[in-house]
Amino acid sequence: GMSVITLDSLSVPQIQDLLHKARYIDAHRRQVAHTCEGRVLATLFYEPSTRTRLSFETAMLRLGGQVIGFAGAQLASVTKGESISDTLKTVSNYVDVVAIRHPKEGAALVASRAASVPVINAGDGGHMHPTQTLADLATIQSRFGRITDLTVGLCGDLTFGRTVHSLIETLCRFGNVRFVLISPNELKTPQYVLDRIRQTPSCSYVEVSDLSEVIGDLDVLYMTRVQKERFFNEDDYLRLRDTYILDETKLSLAKDDMAVLHPLPRVNEIATEVDSDPRAAYFEQVRNGMLMRMALESSVLGDDLPGYEPLETRTL
Ligand code: CP
Repeated sequence: GMSVITLDSLSVPQIQDLLHKARYIDAHRRQVAHTCEGRVLATLFYEPSTRTRLSFETAMLRLGGQVIGFAGAQLASVTKGESISDTLKTVSNYVDVVAIRHPKEGAALVASRAASVPVINAGDGGHMHPTQTLADLATIQSRFGRITDLTVGLCGDLTFGRTVHSLIETLCRFGNVRFVLISPNELKTPQYVLDRIRQTPSCSYVEVSDLSEVIGDLDVLYMTRVQKERFFNEDDYLRLRDTYILDETKLSLAKDDMAVLHPLPRVNEIATEVDSDPRAAYFEQVRNGMLMRMALESSVLGDDLPGYEPLETRTL
């Protein structure tokens, strides 16, 4: 098994196989319930989480495995000054696979280098969130029947939004995506992410600040939260947090089959009235997150799902 720090470590056919596997798992819950029997997952969460930690954990439990870990580093020996490397050298003795979330960019890579078991990045600061992207891809695929040839708007905090960075990186590999990057000037997409689009001949981007002006062009609207925890300055946060609020009035300008995605948690950026609109896909996305983590965990461990015919025979 190999670590997954960004989705660059998986080939496009491997990602397609994970999407296929998640659909299989959804349709064969009982048959797959013993796939990871005897396996143990550790969730090491140095930063808050509802969806990612609980879905990593329920994914392993639903595959017949078990889970240990900590949520909130205050409960672990990190408070006594232990390094990530020492923690991973320790936990590698206890488990078969690790999921780690940490506020620092690069922490998951550091963890994977110290570990002797596969490490899955569950979000490293403002850098990447690859398993969120797997949930996003499954949702786009189920809404449109494809992942390419789409106009994808990403809106909100594009500077610190790790879900945005991971999704752009991966959509570029599928190709034929027009990105519409919607943010205030202070929260624009980092250069390394823009370079990724520039290096992809079939993809393009525009940067704008007004959502209403572009919403009618979009197939996917990926909303994000302005992340208070990434700001140095409270005033900047307060000034920028309500820049984009998607409500039914704004949504009336969008195509009938546009899909609204959001990694969640939301604060104000999507009005709850939107939840009952058929274009709202963010709770489907949550469900896909669990199924994709089941697919990823079983694949990383090399545990075959009974009856599953892979799209791609190479193991991770
Ligand atoms: N989407 C996501 O990562 O949510 P949590 O922070 O609740 O895990």
